[in-house]
Amino acid sequence: MCGIVGYIGGQAATPIILNGLHRLEYRGYDSAGLAVLQNGTITVRREAGKLERLQTLVRAQPLQGNTGIGHTRWATHGEPTQRNAHPHLGPRQRVVLVHNGIVENFLELRTALQAQGAHFQSETDSEVVVHLIEAQLEAGVALAAAMRSTMAQLRGANALVAMCADEPDKIVAVRMGNSGGIVLGLGQDEMFLASDIPAILEHTRQMIFLEPGCMAVLERSSCTVSDSAGAIIQAPVHAITYDAAAAEKGNYAHFMQKEIHEQVHALTNTIIGRVDFTSGRVQLPDLNLTPELARRAKRMVITGCGTAAHAGMVGKLMIESLARLPVEVSIASEFRYTDPIVDRDTIVLAISQSGETADTLAAIAEAATRGAVVWSIVNAIGSQAMRVAHGHITMQSGPEIGVASTKAFTTPLVDLYMLAMLLGDLRGTLPAAQRLALAQDLARLPDLAGSVLDREPQVQAVAQALQHTSHCMYLGRGINMPIAYEGALKLKEISYIHAEGYPAGEMKHGPIALVEPGLPVICIAVRDQWHEKMLSQVEQVRARGGMVVAVATDGDERMAQLADHVLWIPPVPWLLSPVLTAIPLQLLAYHVALLRGCDVDQPRNLAKSVTVE
Ligand code: AGP
Repeated sequence: MCGIVGYIGGQAATPIILNGLHRLEYRGYDSAGLAVLQNGTITVRREAGKLERLQTLVRAQPLQGNTGIGHTRWATHGEPTQRNAHPHLGPRQRVVLVHNGIVENFLELRTALQAQGAHFQSETDSEVVVHLIEAQLEAGVALAAAMRSTMAQLRGANALVAMCADEPDKIVAVRMGNSGGIVLGLGQDEMFLASDIPAILEHTRQMIFLEPGCMAVLERSSCTVSDSAGAIIQAPVHAITYDAAAAEKGNYAHFMQKEIHEQVHALTNTIIGRVDFTSGRVQLPDLNLTPELARRAKRMVITGCGTAAHAGMVGKLMIESLARLPVEVSIASEFRYTDPIVDRDTIVLAISQSGETADTLAAIAEAATRGAVVWSIVNAIGSQAMRVAHGHITMQSGPEIGVASTKAFTTPLVDLYMLAMLLGDLRGTLPAAQRLALAQDLARLPDLAGSVLDREPQVQAVAQALQHTSHCMYLGRGINMPIAYEGALKLKEISYIHAEGYPAGEMKHGPIALVEPGLPVICIAVRDQWHEKMLSQVEQVRARGGMVVAVATDGDERMAQLADHVLWIPPVPWLLSPVLTAIPLQLLAYHVALLRGCDVDQPRNLAKSVTVE
């Protein structure tokens, strides 16, 4: 979604902002702009399209000044044109604003302002906000106070950042509800702000996360945070440890490719320090899981969106199998609209890479209101989903920049596996010998993942067979049924091929009607308790002329004869097999998208962090 960067200090603001916006490109955007304040004048440059266009414009028409704000826009109201791009100036050009979120009541506000004679330059909801702020300045109100009272007039989750020509020594940021986050970076005689850490990480590691309802006033040598009542608060300062280099592409062509290959390392980091391989015991201290809670819990609801929800579906089988705790998976964008039955004996576990997905945050809030114990599995350290949960597990994936989630899918699978072991241990459903065996299986996993990655050339060959198709079907069963959903999601989001995942057993209840000669059907058919059933599914596809691409276990002769193409993986215990079966399907989507000339890291219409409903 929209990216925001701000700077105030002694350096030239423009390169810092443009560089920060570049680091936020992965979030997805369709126009960009920046505003710099100097000698009481605000200068704005905006462009539709990619950031390079804005950079070209700025080279031709430079901006001087030490205070500025920038924005990459993901269109919600009005097309991605230059005039709808942010920043937006007020009618008297005294205030300039960037915005992330949706002003739900913008039409009624806009109509009221028009009735008072206001004229708008854009179709955006954001311009309405800058009009409201500037109207108060006209009445003698200072910027911070004007923003606070404007906030009170807006409905929805919104993050706003503004500067005022009459108060050139400050930038003011406010956050309402579960809007995209605002992170404040503390420097020496300079301050930064951004919608996400990578934008400013090269400048400072001391960061404050602005909480919903709070406001920050940044001056060159101070950062003052106040709560929704206007009282100044001591917001905690977090030392961000991850390396800025981790958010770079390095020698890889795309972030997605790099992140797929980082999985061995990410899986290792996920396991290290959490599993004792001599006893098989697991520790997840940030979860605040007590033996009392483990025994009292009657059920768990796992929630999340997209890939995160697919991880939850795998987690359901892990937890039910090892801890005998009933688990339901509820899509986060639906959760709060379904009058969910959760109470103090329910654990609601939210999974989110970004920790700022608006729907997931809303599900967390709904669950907390109903008295549930709320946990989260998050990748972004310090994100809202981590902070508001009663307990959390961090994914240890490192920054994930590619819009298509890869390592932030496989690492939570391992988190869920460890959680299932811990719950099983505490609930008395997991004998010590089995616990130890599970831990030993886990120890071998990063190596096995490495061996799947080594087989990338076999995936490239299969990608060629798929590159011209318009439709694809993915089938899986049992613990690999969610991998069919995930494989299809990966392919559709980056290659734009229509792909659907189905539980294999559902085929004959409808989808088999779609199978015709040449239709690619990707069957996840590894050696596990569902193997025989999958083989007969493969036969049914073949009988109708479908092109079978199987994900199968090394040495499976029967599959070698049946399938048109096979993506081989090494033998792996069934509970961990989704970690391995997901990897060739990530690579397949990547290589098909490359062959089709698609923008792999920034697919059309998509954003990395979906901070609006
Ligand atoms: C994954 O490839 C997708 N881009 C998307 O489904 C994503 O997983 C979803 O939007 C949830 O994001 P989150 O994990 O940051 O909450």
